Amino acid sequence: MTSANLMGKIQQLKMKRKAVILAHNYQRPEIQDIADFVGDSLELSLCATQTDAEVIIFCGVKFMAETAAILNPDKMVLMPDKNALCPMAAMLPGELVQLYRKKYSNAKVVLYINTLAEAKANCDAVCTSANSAEILERMDSETVLFGPDWNLAQYAKNHTKKHVVSIPKFGFCPVHILFNKEAILKLKEIHPDAEVLAHPECTPEVCGVADFVGSTSKMYRQALVSKAKKFIVATEVGLLHRMKKDRIGAIFIPAYEEAVCAQMKLHTLEKLYLSLKNKRYEVKISPKIMTSARNAVEIMLRTRETLD
Ligand code: 13P
Ligand code: SF4
Repeated sequence: MTSANLMGKIQQLKMKRKAVILAHNYQRPEIQDIADFVGDSLELSLCATQTDAEVIIFCGVKFMAETAAILNPDKMVLMPDKNALCPMAAMLPGELVQLYRKKYSNAKVVLYINTLAEAKANCDAVCTSANSAEILERMDSETVLFGPDWNLAQYAKNHTKKHVVSIPKFGFCPVHILFNKEAILKLKEIHPDAEVLAHPECTPEVCGVADFVGSTSKMYRQALVSKAKKFIVATEVGLLHRMKKDRIGAIFIPAYEEAVCAQMKLHTLEKLYLSLKNKRYEVKISPKIMTSARNAVEIMLRTRETLD
């Protein structure tokens, strides 16, 4: 089937199933282009609560689709490829959260959305890269356990008065760990007029040389409103598609061309079509975990009520 045929079939099936297609900013260009909504983790979660579609097709990694399912117990949530798992989320299993809770019994626990549902079921609040410091500030304990991303914990620490303890000791994103301060400074020498945009999953050294640090959608919006005409982008390369499309004439330079999240790229047009056709792969979470995780996920949504 040609890609135009495939796209036509996807649109037809989407109507038939009363489905909505949500795609993360790192998805393949053709998936972003066919999606009803493209955004960061916070926006996609919010979008999942506001849709009246009966089926949500989630083109992102599993923790994102699980969050949509937690927020929509009555809807069917499907992933085109069930193997799209975030390695960082696997660094903090639910049992480890329980152990840390026992060790620090007076501390509240804030987990990054990049965690599995079973971990979320054991925390007080969930945050994303768009609202980590705001959520930490809302906790009523002086010490807050935060995980799994050590780099995001360092970034959030600088924006809150809380005593932040990283759990586990060093969780990280295998893609964002690849960015290097010296390489960015070299690029900056070649392009002195470029603005450096970075994701807070990058190391503190990389964030330290960036002009702007924020979630993927915050980076995208900065690229739209900034006076600069050239940008060095320190995040997964998929975000450049949206930036280039919506800021015509500007130049976007990846801070590292091989910063590719293989998990995010597992979804293809063909798998999306098959997912709609065969109603696969459904994201299933036990009712107990769903109920325990919902409150923590809803706190995450309170920092942002609307999508622009
Ligand atoms: P955002 O919520 O900023 O889109 O980040 C998700 C993610 O997995 C970054 O690696
Ligand atoms: Fe996980 Fe990193 Fe991929 Fe984001 S880019 S989904 S944190 S592995």
